[in-house]
Order: sequence, then structure tokens, then C-alpha cells
Amino acid sequence: MKNSTNSPKIAVAPMMDWTDRHCRYFMRLLTPSAFLYTEMVTAAAIHHGDAQRFLRFNEQEHPVALQLGGSNPEWMASATRKAAGFGYDEININVGCPSDRVQSGQFGACLMQEPSIVADCYKAMQAETEIPVTVKTRIGIDDKDSDEFLRRFIDVVAAAGCGKFIVHARIAILEGLSPKDNRTIPPLDYDRVYRLKHELPELNVVLNGGLVGVDQVEDALRHVDGAMIGRQAYHQPYFLAELEHHFNGDWPLPARREVVNAMLPYVESVVAEGESLHRVTRHMLGLFAGQPGARAWRRYISEHAHRGGAGAEVLINALNAIPVAA
Ligand SMILES: Cc1cc2nc3c(=O)[nH]c(=O)nc-3n(C[C@H](O)[C@H](O)[C@H](O)COP(=O)(O)O)c2cc1C
Repeated sequence: MKNSTNSPKIAVAPMMDWTDRHCRYFMRLLTPSAFLYTEMVTAAAIHHGDAQRFLRFNEQEHPVALQLGGSNPEWMASATRKAAGFGYDEININVGCPSDRVQSGQFGACLMQEPSIVADCYKAMQAETEIPVTVKTRIGIDDKDSDEFLRRFIDVVAAAGCGKFIVHARIAILEGLSPKDNRTIPPLDYDRVYRLKHELPELNVVLNGGLVGVDQVEDALRHVDGAMIGRQAYHQPYFLAELEHHFNGDWPLPARREVVNAMLPYVESVVAEGESLHRVTRHMLGLFAGQPGARAWRRYISEHAHRGGAGAEVLINALNAIPVAA
């Protein structure tokens, strides 16, 4: 069983439209060790489409995991083979997303009621690669909101060999709630995830959902092997630096300005490739959240990064727009 016991303890969640390669490059400057997850990519897109476009990433992003959506073992296996060739450190199966689009394609959270399909996907994928194939799931779906339901899903997939599960600690409501509401309305139940780890200590269990503070993450790590952070890492990316510093005291907290300066060569190179500056800087708007000048930083970038020909100077000017103490 590949239970990835050497995995970093902190991870940044897969988030569609957010954790793209530019975002991950930026986050890596704030945390040398956290596991970074891509946005979900469907196996079908890799199978039929331009794999390079969906799979490319920068070497600096390691450790980085690709999240795949799908339920066809053959396609999931072929996507895994291609992804392993790109050098990903882990492939993760999405069994947590509740959106309609995902349900009609028979993947995401609805697969919690089809553990044997997930097990078949896992086996086909793991046969293609040495890197761990893992699963991200919820604690239940709809009225199937019990330890037993979660345990049955995990037992079947673990019996196929899967050793690492990331569990978003709320159920998914498949009918009638938007994906966004599905991240806030069903209540968090960390204890169900802790009980799972307690009952199955050989598994690598990562808790996800609602983690926003260092103390809270530290508390979670007393019960489980890892903590995955989503929205807080995106809206307040400096939180990642605080976590890194807390758990790895040898790593000095960088000043936010240093992080911006470290982004400049990257920004210059992607703009030179023809990418719009905005595609990179949109992920950096929260860097000064809670600091004096946060609004000036955001406003300067929002007003200037879209403009034709905009380059790294926009970030330098945005820094100059904030008080020096920040
Ligand atoms: C904008 C956005 C996009 C998301 N996209 C995905 C996705 O592609 N795959 C996935 O498994 N979860 C996705 N999620 C859910 C997150 O991975 C995470 O499980 C959820 O936000 C709860 O963690 P948090 O409270 O730390 O944000 C997304 C969340 C957000 C906010």
C-alpha cells in the first residue's frame, strides 16, 4: 500500500480557476514544503485534448499533485500515464466535487456511492505509475451522512491499495445546492475524519475544510497526518508562509515585498511568452490582506494589469503604492 507517509503535512487544495500554474508558482515562494494541487482536469480533456496545455508546470512547483476527474478506468489510466511523464508527484482522484456538470459526467462526489468504480479507477491508474494515486472525498453525500457510509467507501478503495485519503469534512448535497454553497452550508465534522484515522491508522488521512488559523491546523495535526487548506490559502496567501514558519522554524518568514520581488523574473518570462500579466497577478491580490496598504496594492494591480503591454513594472509600482512599513 502506498500511503505516502513522507508527504508534506500541509497541502493547498485543488481549486478550479484558482490553483493554476501561475498561482502555484507564487504559492511556492510562500511555502517551500506544502504539497500543491492543480485545478481538477478531466481525464477526458487529457485523453482527447492538448495534454501539454493541461499538464505543464514549472519545476519550482514540486511537490505538486495533479487532480483528475473521471470514472472511466481506461481514460483515468491513460491520463495518469501522461501525467506521470510530466513529473507530477501524486495523482489525485476527485470524489468531492458536487457540481451538476460533474455529476452528469459520473464523477466527483456522486462516486462516493460507487466505491467499486473508484477502486477500479485506482487500480488502473496505480498500475501505470510508481507515484502515489490518492483520493479526495467528502464525509458523505445527501442523506448518507454517517461514519458507516464513509467507512464503506474508504474500505473498498483502500482494499484496492489506495493508502492516502484527503477528506473534506462536510457532506456534499448533490441536488439543490451550488458548489459554492456546498462549501459552506453543510456543517463541518472534523471528528468523523479523526475517527476514520483512529480506526484505520495505517492510512494517510488529510483533513480539509474550514482551516484558517495556525493553531487550528496544529490541533488537526494531532489527529491526522496532514491538513489541506483551500480558500484561506488563496485569499490570504501569506498564511502559507506563517504555517511554513510555524512548522519549520528554520525557514525565516519572508517580507511580503521580498515575495513580490522574487516573482518578478517569473512574471517577465511568462509575459514574454505572450501571457497577460493579469493571469499571474490576479492570484497575488491577497498578499497584503490585513496589512496597511492592502487596498492600494489590490487597486493598483486591478487597474493596471489588464492593460496591453503591462509587465513586471506594474508590481513594482503597486509596491510603491503601499506604505514602506508593510
Ligand atoms: C474556487 C474553488 C474551486 C474548487 N475546485 C475544486 C476542484 O477542482 N477539485 C476539488 O477537489 N475541490 C475543489 N474545491 C474545493 C476545495 O478543494 C476544498 O475542498 C474546499 O474549498 C474546502 O476547503 P477550504 O475550507 O480550506 O476552502 C474548490 C474550491 C473553491 C473555493
